[in-house]
Amino acid sequence: MPLSREEEEALNDHFLVNSYVEGFTTSQADAVLFYHFKSTPSQDLHNLHRWYKHIASFGSDISKFAGHKRNNLTLSLNGKKITIAMENNSEKQINGEEGTEQQEQKTAEDIVDPWNVQASSNKGIDYDKLIDRFGSSRIDDTLLERFEKLTGQKPHHFLRRGIFFSHRDMHRILNLIEAGKKFFLYTGRGPSSEAMHLGHLIPFLLTKWLQDAFDVPLIIQLTDDEKYLWKDLKLEQCNKLAYENVKDIIAVGFDMNKTFIFSDIDFLGGEFYKNILRVQKHVTFNQVKGIFGFDESSNIGKIMFPAIQAVPSFSSSFPFIFGEKKDIPCLIPCAIDQDPYFRMTRDVAPRIGFQKPALIHSTFFPALQGASSKMSSSDENSSIFLTDTANQIKKKINKYAFSGGKDTLEEHRELGGDCEIDVSYMYLKFFMEDDSRLEEIRQQYSSGKMLTGELKAELIKILQKLIAEHQERRKVVTDDTVKQYMTPRALNFTIQK
Ligand code: TRP
Repeated sequence: MPLSREEEEALNDHFLVNSYVEGFTTSQADAVLFYHFKSTPSQDLHNLHRWYKHIASFGSDISKFAGHKRNNLTLSLNGKKITIAMENNSEKQINGEEGTEQQEQKTAEDIVDPWNVQASSNKGIDYDKLIDRFGSSRIDDTLLERFEKLTGQKPHHFLRRGIFFSHRDMHRILNLIEAGKKFFLYTGRGPSSEAMHLGHLIPFLLTKWLQDAFDVPLIIQLTDDEKYLWKDLKLEQCNKLAYENVKDIIAVGFDMNKTFIFSDIDFLGGEFYKNILRVQKHVTFNQVKGIFGFDESSNIGKIMFPAIQAVPSFSSSFPFIFGEKKDIPCLIPCAIDQDPYFRMTRDVAPRIGFQKPALIHSTFFPALQGASSKMSSSDENSSIFLTDTANQIKKKINKYAFSGGKDTLEEHRELGGDCEIDVSYMYLKFFMEDDSRLEEIRQQYSSGKMLTGELKAELIKILQKLIAEHQERRKVVTDDTVKQYMTPRALNFTIQK
C-alpha cells in the first residue's frame, strides 16, 4: 500500500533531523523504505526527497547496507505507527543482481573522505555525483541571488564559479540574516606541515569574505591533536606547526576583534570538553565505523576525535564569546572532504539540545600536474606554496602546470586548447577576479588564438602578486599578534534576538 500524504510528511519530518531511517548510517531499514517508493518522492517533501536521492546514489551497494534483510519495516513517527512494505519488483535489485553497468560504475567511484581524495578519472572528482552520494544540496542561482540581495554585492567569485558548489541548510542561515539575526562562522586546519599551499587558502578566503559581508564572529580550530593521531609526527611538532600555520591564517586578514583561533592541544577543557563528552556519549563505535571507516585496529584517539571537530559548531562551547547562549547558529565553510565530520555533528546535535550547523562546501584545488593527481605538501612541485618566491612560481607554472594546449603550434591554432583539463586555466578560475577577462581568456584559448605560454604568463602575474602580498601580511604577524587571536576572550559583535 502506498504511504498516505500524512505518513510521507511524518517521514519528511524525520529526515529533517535524521540522515537515515535508523541510527547514523545506512541500514537495511533504509533499503526497505527506499524500495517501497516506486519513484522519487515529491520535491516539496524536501528532506524525504534528499534522503531518497542520497540512498539511490548507492546503487547496487544498497544490498550491502548493514543489518538483516527484511521485507517490511514498522516505524513510530510522531507517536503514530507506520508500516512500510518493500515493493516486490525491487527484490531483484536489492539482492544484488544488478546489471554490469552499475557494477562498472561502482568500481569507478571517486574516493572522498577526510584522509583520502582520489578521482577515478582524469577529469577529476565528479562533484555532481558527490552531492547525490552525500545528500547535500547544490549551490544554485536562487541561493546566489539571495546572497546578492542580502549583501548588496556580487557573491564572491568562488560562489559564482562553482568553486564552492554544495551546501547544507544555507537557506536557514540566509533566513536568519534576512530577519536581522546573526550566526557565527567556524572553520579549521589540521597543521601537518610548515608550508601551506594555495589550496589550503581556499576555505579561509571564502570565510574572510563571509565574515566581512555579514559582520559575524569566527572560530578557527587548529586540529594539532588530529594530526598527531593520524600522522607519524611528534606531539610537540604538531603543536608547533599549529603556531606556524596560524600566522598564514591570520595573514588572510580576519578581523581580530571578531576572531578566536585555538589549538586543540592547548584549549581542550571546560565547556568545550563538556560538549565533547555529550557528543561522545551519543555516538557509538558502530556509527563512527560507518561514517569514517574506522575498525578494531584503529587507535582509540581516532575513534573519539570526531567529537572534537564536532563541538566548535555549538556556541555553548565558547562561553567567553557567546555567554549563556546555546543556540546561536553556526555556518561551516570547508572542503567537501570534511563533510563526514559534520554529517555526524548534524545527526547528534538535536539529540543533545543543539542546533545543527549549516555547511558550505568547496571543490578541491587541483595539483599542478592535473585535477586527478594529488597535491601534497611533501612534493614541492605539486603546488604553489605560500613561501614560494616570484621566480619559483614562474618556474613551477611554466614547467609543471598541466597544459590543455595542443602539441604543435599549427595544431593549437587550428584546434584550440582544452580549458577543462588545463591547470593554469583552472587556477585562473580560482584567482582571477575579473569575470570578463577570464571569459575572454577562455574564448581565446579554446579557439587557439591564445597560446599556453600566454595563458601561463597571465597566471604567473596574478599568483606572484597574490603570494607577495600574502608574504607581506604574514611578515607583520608577530608572536604577540598570534597570542591576541588565540586568547579566549569576548569578541565584538551583537547577536540580535
Ligand atoms: N580536519 C581539518 C583538516 O585536517 C581541520 C578542521 C577542523 C576543519 N575543524 C574544521 C576544517 C572545520 C574545516 C572546517 O584540515
